[in-house]
Amino acid sequence: MSAQTPKRIAVTGAAGQICYALLFRIAKGDVYGPDQPVILQLLDLPQALDAVRGVVMELEDCAFPLLAGTVVTDDPVTAFTDIDAAFFVGSRPRTKGMERRDLLSANAEIFRVQGEALDKAAKRDAKCVVVGNPANTNAMILAANAPNFPTENITAMIRLDHNRALTQFASKADLHVDDIERFVVWGNHSPTMFADWTEAEAKGRKLSEIIGDETWYRETLIPQVATRGAAIIEARGASSAASAANAAIDHMHDWIHGTDGKWVSMAVPSTGLYGIPEGLMVGLPVICKDGHYERVEGLEFNDFQKEMMARTVGELEEEREAVSDLL
Ligand code: NAD
Ligand code: LMR
Repeated sequence: MSAQTPKRIAVTGAAGQICYALLFRIAKGDVYGPDQPVILQLLDLPQALDAVRGVVMELEDCAFPLLAGTVVTDDPVTAFTDIDAAFFVGSRPRTKGMERRDLLSANAEIFRVQGEALDKAAKRDAKCVVVGNPANTNAMILAANAPNFPTENITAMIRLDHNRALTQFASKADLHVDDIERFVVWGNHSPTMFADWTEAEAKGRKLSEIIGDETWYRETLIPQVATRGAAIIEARGASSAASAANAAIDHMHDWIHGTDGKWVSMAVPSTGLYGIPEGLMVGLPVICKDGHYERVEGLEFNDFQKEMMARTVGELEEEREAVSDLL
């Protein structure tokens, strides 16, 4: 076992599907790296705690060298005490025929309560990612209810959409996913999200030139990425779980360890950049370095980009309006 002080990581919804993939990867070292011990602080509802204990038994049975302890609780303050990082997964998933925003009323209150607990108990530099849907607006509720916690450290996950698009591009253009740079998914984790290849490059060339098929991009790629979650629910009968866990790991790993100058998509608090109203949690291109993310600035938008941005940002504003009593 490493001599380093363990990092405390809170994970909510620990008895759920996503966590059944996520917890084992965190305990293996996929977030903080192979030399950093971790303590998992697991939160779920009282009726789910037996199931969480079962997951802990399985974690124990893996004999992970980096797993330095577990806490199982239904109290958010206990779960968030002294944490270095938090994955906010716990919330209801949608089922066939629903949109993610239909979950707003079911899930918003969870993030109000957890925001207050985060404010009380977490280390001020804890890194938070909201996965539970509708993730962007839930993250905004969390931030609004944690007034003494730095809003910059509250983010939402749009990385699954980013990863989904990379695979589609790589397969269309016979590239490796790692070849693709300067790609971003803007906006809301919802059907209005905007998978934007305008700046994307691979091997020193514009991705749009390599693929050379604007119709495919607009009429197949963009809607396919935007509706992939629903396609998985249709096929699997349940929402994405292992791929969501993987994206959450990628999001947190890159925030901690950096992206080596590469763009990744993160939903972060808007500072007003690109005219996006301040305070919305919006998917943007960021570069991570030294434990921080930096928004990519200085981009110019063409008419298509402006139209797509207006649509997704407009939806985030509508969601903000719908939960105004919790903000
Ligand atoms: P799940 O139903 O399998 O698990 C959810 C867990 O959350 C359950 O154990 C439940 O008891 C727990 N929970 C509910 N209320 C809670 C509370 N107040 N405090 C703590 N725990 C609570 O769902 P899942 O498949 O793991 O999905 C979880 C969420 O993640 C859903 O909202 C889903 O839509 C979302 N999701 C987001 C993305 C993304 O890209 N952002 C991807 C996939 C899924
Ligand atoms: C996804 O994108 O797979 C998740 O947000 C689950 C969903 O409801 O689509």
